Amino acid sequence: MNEIATKDKFDLRSLPIGIFDSGVGGLTVYRALHNRLPNERFIYLGDTARVPYGTKSLATVERYALENAQFLASLGIKMLVVACNTASALALPQIRAQIGLDVVGVIGPGGRKAVEIIGGEAPRIGVIATEATVASNAYADRIHDACDKAQILQQACPLFVPLAEEGWTDAPETNSIAQKYLSVFDEFKPEAVVLGCTHYPILKQVIQQTVGENVKLVDSGEATADEVVELLHDKGLDNRNVVSGSRQLCDDLDHFFVTDATERFARVAERFLGAKPMKLEAVEVPGIDQPVI
Ligand code: DGL
Repeated sequence: MNEIATKDKFDLRSLPIGIFDSGVGGLTVYRALHNRLPNERFIYLGDTARVPYGTKSLATVERYALENAQFLASLGIKMLVVACNTASALALPQIRAQIGLDVVGVIGPGGRKAVEIIGGEAPRIGVIATEATVASNAYADRIHDACDKAQILQQACPLFVPLAEEGWTDAPETNSIAQKYLSVFDEFKPEAVVLGCTHYPILKQVIQQTVGENVKLVDSGEATADEVVELLHDKGLDNRNVVSGSRQLCDDLDHFFVTDATERFARVAERFLGAKPMKLEAVEVPGIDQPVI
């Protein structure tokens, strides 16, 4: 984005940061951002009516992602975090071209983090993600940008998404599904596994037990939050009006929107974040050709 004039920059600083995901998974990114940036407000959109994105075509994911980005931009945000790996893998350049704000996706930060924490000439990195993210090869590309000799094995784990949406974090069924998917890594012996879907950190414990405690799990949401902090600072966009009192996850400074009923989202958010969003609304996200009302 071009240099912002001083007055506009001042106005932009007090605006919230927009975040979207196909559902509840992006809450892992929201939590990471909230923990690092207590002075910022967030607007979160979970496209719960259209989840999952990971089994849909490029054209469909691209359209949904553009609609979500346009909706959040229309509410007045200073930066957009695409907290969905599938949308980041398939539609980041299109979103950037459309909304004219700084846009941060989760793939680049997650890939770079994996290379950084393992180090060496040829780190062995496993990537677990949705079918669409794996097929796009976006993680392999970003990891190779950071280390061209990295050895990569990718595995799609589509059933992890409904299990996370359902909140089945330690059910026996989740364990056996994890064993089935992750046995591809038995021979490859990755040093790190990237959680390349924002829903997967919800199942972190079972994934860690299955791949072994010696394997480092890379949460792309956490890596993304680190890069957002840096970018806000570099661009001089951090909010200078200090928020008084201590911030809580899901407090009334943050606004949550979902495209389907709110109850289910509130339930999963409470189980996962320990609090129900104080401001939570169901909305219909307008199509890309329709005006936002
Ligand atoms: N949260 C999405 C992602 O990070 C996955 C869920 C979906 O398939 O929509 O890719």
